[in-house]
Formats: sequence, C-alpha cells, structure tokens
Amino acid sequence: MSDNTDRNLSADEWDELNFPRPKENDFDRVVERAISRRGFIGGVLAFGSGAAAMSAGLLDIGKARAQQETRFAFTPVAASTDSDVHVPEGYRWQRLVSWGDPLFSGTEVFDQAIGGAAGDADKVFGENTDGIELFIIGGKQVIAVNHEYTNNKINLPQATDGVPRDARDVLKLQNLQGVAVMELVESDTGWAVVLDSPFNRRITQNTPMKISGPAAGHDLLKTAADAAGDESLGTFNNCGSGKTPWGTYLTCEENFNGYFGATEEPELSEQVADGYKRYGISTDGWGYEYHKWDSRFDTSKNPNEPHRAGWIVEIDPADPQSMPVKRTALGRLKHENAACVLAPDGRVVVYMGDDERGEFLYKFVSRDVYAPGANTSTLLDEGQLHVARFNDDMTGEWVSLTPDTTGMSQAEIAIFSRIAASKVGATTMDRPEWVAVNPIAVEAYCALTNNSRRGVKPNAGGDWTPVAGPNPREANNYGQIVRWRPSGDDHASKSFEWDLYVMAGNPTVHEGAYAGSANINEGNLFNSPDGMAIDTTGLVWIQTDGDDSDEGDFAGNGNNQMLVGDPVTGRIERFLTGPKGAEVTGLCWSADRRTMFVGIQHPDAPFPDGEGKLPRSSIIAVKRDDNLPVG
Ligand code: FEO
Ligand code: CA
Ligand code: CA
Repeated sequence: MSDNTDRNLSADEWDELNFPRPKENDFDRVVERAISRRGFIGGVLAFGSGAAAMSAGLLDIGKARAQQETRFAFTPVAASTDSDVHVPEGYRWQRLVSWGDPLFSGTEVFDQAIGGAAGDADKVFGENTDGIELFIIGGKQVIAVNHEYTNNKINLPQATDGVPRDARDVLKLQNLQGVAVMELVESDTGWAVVLDSPFNRRITQNTPMKISGPAAGHDLLKTAADAAGDESLGTFNNCGSGKTPWGTYLTCEENFNGYFGATEEPELSEQVADGYKRYGISTDGWGYEYHKWDSRFDTSKNPNEPHRAGWIVEIDPADPQSMPVKRTALGRLKHENAACVLAPDGRVVVYMGDDERGEFLYKFVSRDVYAPGANTSTLLDEGQLHVARFNDDMTGEWVSLTPDTTGMSQAEIAIFSRIAASKVGATTMDRPEWVAVNPIAVEAYCALTNNSRRGVKPNAGGDWTPVAGPNPREANNYGQIVRWRPSGDDHASKSFEWDLYVMAGNPTVHEGAYAGSANINEGNLFNSPDGMAIDTTGLVWIQTDGDDSDEGDFAGNGNNQMLVGDPVTGRIERFLTGPKGAEVTGLCWSADRRTMFVGIQHPDAPFPDGEGKLPRSSIIAVKRDDNLPVG
C-alpha cells in the first residue's frame, strides 16, 4: 500500500496509487494493438448510418460536423493550467459557496488555521462538493449537494500528515461528508445561500437512515446496534446524484469501502469474505482511520457494517425532518449516479454505473407506475434490477438479476449485486461514471472514464476485460462515452442499440485509436469524462476528472474542464476550465435556466481564497452577461 494518509488526492488518484498501472505497459505495443483494431473501430463508427441522426456513428458525425450550423453560443476557451476558473467571453462566474461556509447562523467564521471549527462541521457546507440537483419547493430554489470525501491534510491542518488524532478529529471528518440541502436566492449582488432557511440541512455519516427494499432486515445487515437490520447511521462517499420525478434527491454511495478497517483480523464467513474481496474492504482502510476511534467502522467488531453502505439513498429536500431511505432494490455497488427517467407506461427507470475498473452498468425498472400525486414511497423498493451486456454487433441486452438467473436470493442479489452480475456474464466496462438521459430523444449516455487494466487484468471478481464492444482500447487512459437507444423507444425495454458518442484521445501525440474519435481535435482535448448532464435543448455537458499534468499523452489537455457536445453533429467544445488540481463535477441549472451551478472539487491552493490559504472545494454560479438562458 502507498502512503494512505495523503487525502489530498481524488478517489481515482487514490485508486491508482494503491493499484498502480502495470509497469509492463509498453507504449509501442499498446499503440500497435489499437491500430490493428482500427477495422473493428471503423465498424463501430459506421454504426447507425441508416438510422436517425441521433444514432449517427462517429464517422458520420465527422462528416456532419463540416456542414453543421453551430448550436454553441460561445467562443470555446483555451486549455488552462493556472489556478483560476475560466469561462467564455460574454459569460461570468462567481463563487456561491465553499467548504466551511455556514448554513446556519451562530457558526464561527471559517478559520484557515484549523480548517474550520470541528464543532461546526455539521452546520457548514461540507468538503468535496459533487453531485448537485435543484428543486423548486414552494417557490423557493433549493439545492441538494453531495460531499464526497475528505482531504485530511487540508481538513485537519493541525494533525500530522492529516492523520486523525482522536475521536474528535474522526467526527469532524464524518460531519464534513454526506449531503447539504440549502436554499439559494439571487439578488443584485448575485447568488447566495439563504442562512437559516427552514430547508437548510446537513446529512452526515452519522445521520439515521431507514433501510428499505429486498435487503432490509436480512441477517447480513444486522449489527449489535441494529438487531432488526433496517436502520443505519450515515451515508458514505456521496458521489453523483439523481432526481426523481416526484421531487426527491438520490445520493449515490461510491467508494464506501475505504472507511472500514480492522483493529484485528476479522473472522468472516466465506460469503462475507467473498463480498469483502469483491468490494475492496480491507483491514487497513483508505486512511480515514475511523476504525481506530469509532468501533462501528472496525470490521473485526462489526463485520456487517460495510453491508449497510454502497447504496442509493433517497432524501426529501422539502422535509428537513424526513429520514433518508437506503433503497436496496437499486443494488449495492460503488454507485456513481442515478439517472431517472419514466418509461412510456409510467414505470420508473434508473440507470446506474458502478465506478471501478471492469465493473458494470445497471438499470432498475420499477414494478409500479408513477402517477403525480400518488404514493411514491415504495416505487424504488419493488422492481427489477438488470445489468448490461453489450454485443460487438452494436446491440445489447439488459439481463435481469433474479434468483433464477443468479442462484442467489433477492436479498443477496441486492447486497452482492456485483457477484450476481458476474454470474450472468455482464459486460466489464471502463469504469462507468455518470449516466445522463437525453430529455428530447429516447437515448442515454454513460461516461466510461478510463481503465488502465482494460485487456490487462480482470476485474476484482476475476471477470476478464476483453478489448471489445464499447471498451475498444487496451490500457485505456483517455476514456469514452457510450450511448444507447432502447428498443421501441422505451427505457424499460430489455434490448438496445449502442454506439460511441466520443472517444477521448490525443491526435497531437498519437495516430489511430489513441488519437480519439473524429470529433476530437487540438482545440477540445480532454481526458477522463466523468460528470455529465443533458440540458433542455439536448446539449451534452461533459465534466472531466483526469490527468491534468498537461504532458505526454495529456499534452494540451490542461486542467480538468467542462465541455459541451451536440449529440446530433458530434461537435464538442470546451466551455469552462477549472483551477489546477481540481475536478469539475456536479452541474444543475437555476429554475429560469439562466444560471449554471458547477462544482469545483479538490482544487489546489490558491483557489479560491488566495496564496497561503487552504484550498476549498466550491460551487460556482455561471451566467451569460446578457442574462439569456445557459441550458
Ligand atoms: Fe466519485 Fe466515480 O466518481
Ligand atoms: Ca465522478
Ligand atoms: Ca472520476
């Protein structure tokens, strides 16, 4: 293991440090392999030439691009390597809120020397902003936002190397994560958080949660503190987000495994040990050190506690007293986000990526239909979980995870969804990050961020990761975006056609597949697509969480960024660049769509407070100078 006390790293950097890319990764061999696959990729790119423009393949997109009229109302920004945010001419940005800013009066002013008062950590905007959704409640604009993980060296500046010194430090970290719900208001001076709004709420790693669905009450979820196995504390590693048609927030628990460790070797049943292995639960943990100060996280004392994390949690932003609900029917994985859409018959479809190398893409379809005003409390409890199988002929299936197809009980399928999905031969993917559903066409997109192990190593379950289908490049450092159109224009359908919307790459460094698809050029270089949202006009906003060294394979990429793509023409242009070190993640629009709220996660100093100050993850508000809509 590497020095796992350094929390000033993204989760991806952390993963790479602990599981580094293979040393034998010979560059020439990789390129040769990619070029030898060009025939196949040509097949991919030619897909859909006879179909509607929305499913045009990339070669067609390349041709279409020359003829298209632009839908982009801006001049693209250049790649940047500095410590600021840049937006196009005619646009402006302001800071909305940063880690440590109060949601309630009576909290201390953020103290740089101590990284904010420990006692206030559950009353301020938390660390590492991620998924964001906006709700209109009683005429007020309320956002719910995730706080994914902590940067211990920054959040605990007085602790040596950021290693928690005591239970108080651990509690501070636990309280800086989770979710914030807060009301926003726009005035002549810009956007601001409404201090003490009745909607303001912090949900932390200690907030009571109800567990519902097929795993609720199962023996694997029972602990000494919760003999019934249906109520847990806290939500963990809240990454991407989702919004239901009935106005609730879905927060997605991603790298939950990192919080658990053991003070002595745990005694585990074979089933639990297999689960630990598949989900990466170790005796060391990832440096949070909770297990040394809070026995709930010590797997030698509470071996079932990790089974109570890794879920999608539903939160009602309109009711600050409501108890969040862990919806186990949606499976237990390293959940990225939850993209909700209604099928034509009113059933609820939720697309979900499992962000780990060689893991899978999932879909839940509710049993019952959504009807406005009707009871929605069990819609996400009763239904069918599926996993995607992509075929090389550009078709695919959603395979149902049932006792018949997996040999597992319904509860076991929920708790060990990865294992169930392996049993049905799901397609190992290049790290599925956000899924976005197009509101004006029946199609969905998933950002496959990168996969250094593609064609090199199997996933954690031993499933091979062939260079094939929507994952066409070995040791894929750049990432791609796959999209699919469900059969019968029905997101609940069991089959689909797919293509690749874009393959990131670098044509200034490579030829062939690593140069990227036809819609990649010197002016829009990026790597590792991650966050994604499609606006009301059908434009695809792409956020990145990649290598920002601006060197070698990544020369000309600059810092992480947000681009916007036209799915009809394929054209993609760079809209915003983030500060050095940051990931750009989380995006939603104000009610009038004249403002975009964009997350800037884990920047390096001096963003945003200046030299000598702690860097602070922040949400920014982006507007046009002429105040026209931005999405
Ligand atoms: Fe939290 Fe996969 O990003
Ligand atoms: Ca992400
Ligand atoms: Ca990522």
